[in-house]
Amino acid sequence: MGSKSMTVLLLVTVGAIICHVGCFTFEVGGNDGWVVPPANDSKVYNDWASENRFRVGDAIQFRYRKDSVMAVTEAEYKKCNSTRPIFFSNTGDSVYRFNHSGSFYFISGVSGHCEKGQKMIVKVMSHEEAWGSEKGGSSQPSSSTAAASFPLFQAFAASMLTPYLFSCAGF
Ligand SMILES: *[C@@H]1O[C@H](CO)[C@@H](O)[C@H](O)[C@H]1NC(C)=O
Ligand SMILES: *[C@@H]1O[C@H](CO)[C@@H](O)[C@H](O)[C@H]1NC(C)=O
Ligand SMILES: *[C@@H]1O[C@H](CO)[C@@H](O)[C@H](O)[C@H]1NC(C)=O
Repeated sequence: MGSKSMTVLLLVTVGAIICHVGCFTFEVGGNDGWVVPPANDSKVYNDWASENRFRVGDAIQFRYRKDSVMAVTEAEYKKCNSTRPIFFSNTGDSVYRFNHSGSFYFISGVSGHCEKGQKMIVKVMSHEEAWGSEKGGSSQPSSSTAAASFPLFQAFAASMLTPYLFSCAGF
């Protein structure tokens, strides 16, 4: 906790754009986009992904230059194997929509980048799971402790939560 997590929060802010009822597009990496993370912060994408709630129908947007993004299987993710991606894009602005719940594995298709941490696991909840954890209120156990010491985190959390609540009103 501390400056590291603040850096993560500031670096990878969420672009939560309402596309239609109950559906969001999350932007990876904030202003930096989808890049090789700094050596001392190589888990930045998984840290970010685990702090967010992704639901079926949501999408994720990757912006980058001279790079690419792939969705791969878990085994390929672990090996940074980019030979047979499920999804591949190198347009510089790629949107991937989650069409089922479960884990999605993303890597950079550029040689060496995945090994340096340009990879991410996104866990996507079904709408039922999203409702259950919302009612339980325990899905983000770290946020209350973090909010106590970081007013900025509170503002950040509120800005993330607000559109989410709006989307829930649609159900
Ligand atoms: C990583 O290194 C950079 C430059 O040396 C430094 O500014 C930054 O605070 C470090 N970040 C972490 C999370 O240690
Ligand atoms: C990468 O995946 C391909 C196809 O799934 C496989 O043929 C190849 O042996 C794998 N390479 C490594 C280094 O695991
Ligand atoms: C989700 O999309 C992928 C890639 O477009 C497709 O292969 C797969 O069948 C889809 N799954 C469902 C459950 O629609």
